[in-house]
Amino acid sequence: MPDPYSPAADLTAPTVRIEPMGWLAPAPSDLSILQAALRAGIELPNACRNGTCRSCLSRLLSGEIRYLIEWPGVSLEEKREGLVLPCVACAQTDIVIEQPLASRSSKLNVT
Ligand code: FES
Repeated sequence: MPDPYSPAADLTAPTVRIEPMGWLAPAPSDLSILQAALRAGIELPNACRNGTCRSCLSRLLSGEIRYLIEWPGVSLEEKREGLVLPCVACAQTDIVIEQPLASRSSKLNVT
């Protein structure tokens, strides 16, 4: 898995901006949004990391995502409201999500 901070990192990868803090992380399409945030030292609420517990439920404010699983734990109505599960979703474009419980980690995480 490429280090997003190495000189060889794909600088054309989409980014995720996490509001309301405005923190940015590279979000290559081979990482979930949660993995991308963790690698950048940004903690998002999470538990199962497989799309069932809904701990990571966040709001997509802009951009496009795709899910890694067929049936993520959000209803059609929730999807229409912009709710997403970052543990099983990848950024397809630059995206902005809202997750007020995000926090900065003092260390970079390897997922
Ligand atoms: S961490 Fe459980 S649904 Fe995302």
